[in-house]
Amino acid sequence: MNLLVIGSGGREHGLCWKLAGSNKVKKIYCAPGNGGTAEVAENIDIQADDIDGLLNFALNHNIDLTIVGPEDPLVLGVVDRFEEKGLKIFGANKKAAELEGSKDFSKRFMERHNVATAKYRTFNNYDDAVKGLEEFSYPLVIKADGLCLGKGVVICASKDEAIDTLDNILKKKIFGDEGSTVVIEEFLNGIEASLLCFVADDKVIPMESAKDYKKIYDGDKGPNTGGVGCYSPSPLFTHELMEKIDKDIIHNIVNGLKKDDLFFNGILFIGLMIVDGEPLVLEFNVRFGDPETEVLLPRLQSDLVDLIEKSLDGSIEQSDLVWTDDVCLTVVTTSEGYPGNYEKGYKITGLETIDKEIIVFHNGTKYLDNDLTTNGGRVMSITALGNTMEVARNKIYKNIGKINFQGINYRNDIGQI
Ligand code: AMP
Ligand code: GLY
Repeated sequence: MNLLVIGSGGREHGLCWKLAGSNKVKKIYCAPGNGGTAEVAENIDIQADDIDGLLNFALNHNIDLTIVGPEDPLVLGVVDRFEEKGLKIFGANKKAAELEGSKDFSKRFMERHNVATAKYRTFNNYDDAVKGLEEFSYPLVIKADGLCLGKGVVICASKDEAIDTLDNILKKKIFGDEGSTVVIEEFLNGIEASLLCFVADDKVIPMESAKDYKKIYDGDKGPNTGGVGCYSPSPLFTHELMEKIDKDIIHNIVNGLKKDDLFFNGILFIGLMIVDGEPLVLEFNVRFGDPETEVLLPRLQSDLVDLIEKSLDGSIEQSDLVWTDDVCLTVVTTSEGYPGNYEKGYKITGLETIDKEIIVFHNGTKYLDNDLTTNGGRVMSITALGNTMEVARNKIYKNIGKINFQGINYRNDIGQI
């Protein structure tokens, strides 16, 4: 088969890496890809949101299956456009992508279908939103409704901060139209977990759990990022918790997707907060997570092309997903300044000196005249499997110091807290 993977991050490198291991695959193209995907796929110079460009490419290159990495093309309707032309594509359609594309849409879905979530109110006017603050205690959470590159969620410790945030989003329009509506939400104090699921016609089939580290600094300090470390499985996921999630969350999501005619063939990422043993949904994404993909795919023993094809024809079953018991851990190296402004184009050295068993997924790299250089805030995810967390962690921290680029940062406590 000829495959097209859309996107350019660590998630897409993970996908290309895993797909390349399938004996069903003849050729993988990645649009636009990065320095890592270039090792296992052919990068093509088409941006992930250039739907016409992607469609023309797929039509002209005998693409048998397209797999969408990021949310933007999904929200723009890439799946609908490909399907109109009879092309096979894995991902949420435009309507279902609103589960990620609009916080208000997803909160209303959860409310309607009894999916446990934080109490919330939605506003599209500054004065009403300021009044609405009275219904919440502090800290509270303010979320821009639309897609804001992971920056649209602000945790406010005081009323002053909340008013400032509402002013920034609703009046100063720092997120443009993506922030013309805000959701104000109760703050949930618990431990986060990510549960990615295959969605297939009328089924939602969970993968193994993962734990993402969102904060930039050790000790979970500093601003939120896209995720700078991750491991799988999450030890929180006891049999008892998984039963609760199945019964109270997945079951209600399945019913909700059916009732609202939102079923699709792709991935549903359920962002959970576990509060005193009780699971609540923080958010939905309609795509693989990053860096969750980097720790899930090395543990997945099943053929990913097989799973995707079965997900597309509706025949996938839980038993099709086979996992190793090993723990997988990843530590993301980042550019100085991330998640704020950062420079790109620094030469990356030392990769040839690290142990063979370490898997390096590239998040933001690019070849410039044969030199591998930094090309993003998140640069590379240093990943290892081990029969315990300790073993996997030791492998990574023994090697990560051998990699270098100007301003390299990474957390030292992934897998420890
Ligand atoms: P979201 O995009 O909605 O997942 O929010 C991004 C991050 O903000 C989450 O991964 C959490 O770390 C944090 N967050 C979002 N909503 C809440 C909430 N209601 N309570 C506590 N933290 C939250
Ligand atoms: N790591 C969180 C996400 O992919 O949204």
